[in-house]
Amino acid sequence: MSGIVLPDLSRFQASGRETCFHDRHVGAQIYAGLDGRNWRLKDYEARGGYRALRKILGQDGGAGLTPEQVVAEVKASGLRGRGGAGFPTGLKWSFMPRALPVQKYLVCNSDEGEPGTCKDRDILAYNPHIVIEGMAIAAYAMGTTVGYNYIHGEIFEIYERFEQALREAREAGYLGDDILGSGFKFQLHAHHGFGAYICGEETGLLESLEGKKGQPRFKPPFPASFGLYGKPTTINNTETFAAVPWIIVNGGDAYLKIGKPNNGGTKIFSMVGDVERPGNYEIPLGLPFAKLLELAGGVKGGRKLKAVIPGGSSAPVLPASVMMDLTMDYDSIAKAGSMLGSGAVILMDETRCMVASLLRLSYFYMHESCGQCTPCREGTGWLWRMVHRIEHGQGRADDLKLLDSVAENIMGRTICALGDAAAMPVRGMIKHFRDEFAYHIEHKRCIVGPGAQHAHKAAETAAA
Ligand SMILES: Cc1cc2nc3c(=O)[nH]c(=O)nc-3n(C[C@H](O)[C@H](O)[C@H](O)COP(=O)(O)O)c2cc1C
Ligand code: SF4
Repeated sequence: MSGIVLPDLSRFQASGRETCFHDRHVGAQIYAGLDGRNWRLKDYEARGGYRALRKILGQDGGAGLTPEQVVAEVKASGLRGRGGAGFPTGLKWSFMPRALPVQKYLVCNSDEGEPGTCKDRDILAYNPHIVIEGMAIAAYAMGTTVGYNYIHGEIFEIYERFEQALREAREAGYLGDDILGSGFKFQLHAHHGFGAYICGEETGLLESLEGKKGQPRFKPPFPASFGLYGKPTTINNTETFAAVPWIIVNGGDAYLKIGKPNNGGTKIFSMVGDVERPGNYEIPLGLPFAKLLELAGGVKGGRKLKAVIPGGSSAPVLPASVMMDLTMDYDSIAKAGSMLGSGAVILMDETRCMVASLLRLSYFYMHESCGQCTPCREGTGWLWRMVHRIEHGQGRADDLKLLDSVAENIMGRTICALGDAAAMPVRGMIKHFRDEFAYHIEHKRCIVGPGAQHAHKAAETAAA
């Protein structure tokens, strides 16, 4: 691989600044009323926190809810997993064999490694008790007495903040062996990873939590039957758990009505890339994309929008013309050929070169492949090398066909979905921006943006 220039990753590191304090959320439930300082237990209680837990345990003067009633409420809410796949949460909870007399576990996935996504870290930093309460309710519903929150390794200060919140919750009796004197037991612990993207995949996460290399397991068996330490386990995303207290207090039907049928409630979108006010925006599912873009101040510098990756880097790109007509919900985005995914909306303006963008994405997946499966381990490298040569003016006439065929041969042939996540952006880019790739190959330079000069220079160097 001599002569290949590796990208400078430091340019892409997060600034570490909070991104949710801009008063532009619509109907916020998770980010509502946060100011950066009011994350403590007393603040959360003042906002009505732990009311849902009291309600299910019958500590609010009511009769309480049975575990089955809690699951039914979550099913009715239309809440879908906020980690990427959008799987119905109530249905997932019903898979847990709660009557089985063995240790069962609950795990929160706060690994948040999907490029562009930065919502869970703000939930944990500024509203950690909402996750603790959501997990305690889930534990009650599924009969799990031990839980873990697996937090991304590169946000250590947020892990420490969550530990502080856990201490507060234990001292106040919201966690422990006899929660609020009800006899309900749930111990919750925080665990930090070391920053590998693959540890966000649920079974890679479980391996890592067990102290092993974070390499995904073959499924089936699924975690509901063989999870942490081989025991029944339910894993949900941070935002999924954070949505639960509101559902319990206000009812599943009310949550469903906020969004669209099959797409209940609010969702946090991380608006990143060429946007005037990057950050996290909590909005009802089903809001038009154009409105979300307006909330975020429009495209940076008033330039024209070219393309959008609507659900984190694993989702296929969509041209701006398609995106502007869509609403932000799972079904609309899927119908348009992409995915809502983790909710990271990556905006690219007219100056962006699609080949350079794909090169950056391909490098990420090659770097993060855990190496277990041949199609992913080798295929992600092939994809990157092909895009690299196209970008650097050495593309060959049949490269587009080859790229598509390599991507096709990765998809569906690997242990986990990272293989698909690497292949889908390639296919999406070629489908919608084929001309741009073809121009690169034929003219050995870019049609647009600063990439034009870069590719041109590289081509000259290569030719010399
Ligand atoms: C490569 C890869 C990375 C993932 N990273 C995350 C992540 O950082 N956070 C997350 O919640 N889910 C991630 N997922 C999805 C999880 O495997 C799992 O579906 C999710 O945590 C389930 O929670 P939910 O049902 O609440 O969405 C990832 C999946 C793959 C294939
Ligand atoms: S698809 Fe890639 S990341 Fe997933 S298990 Fe296989 S090699 Fe590892």
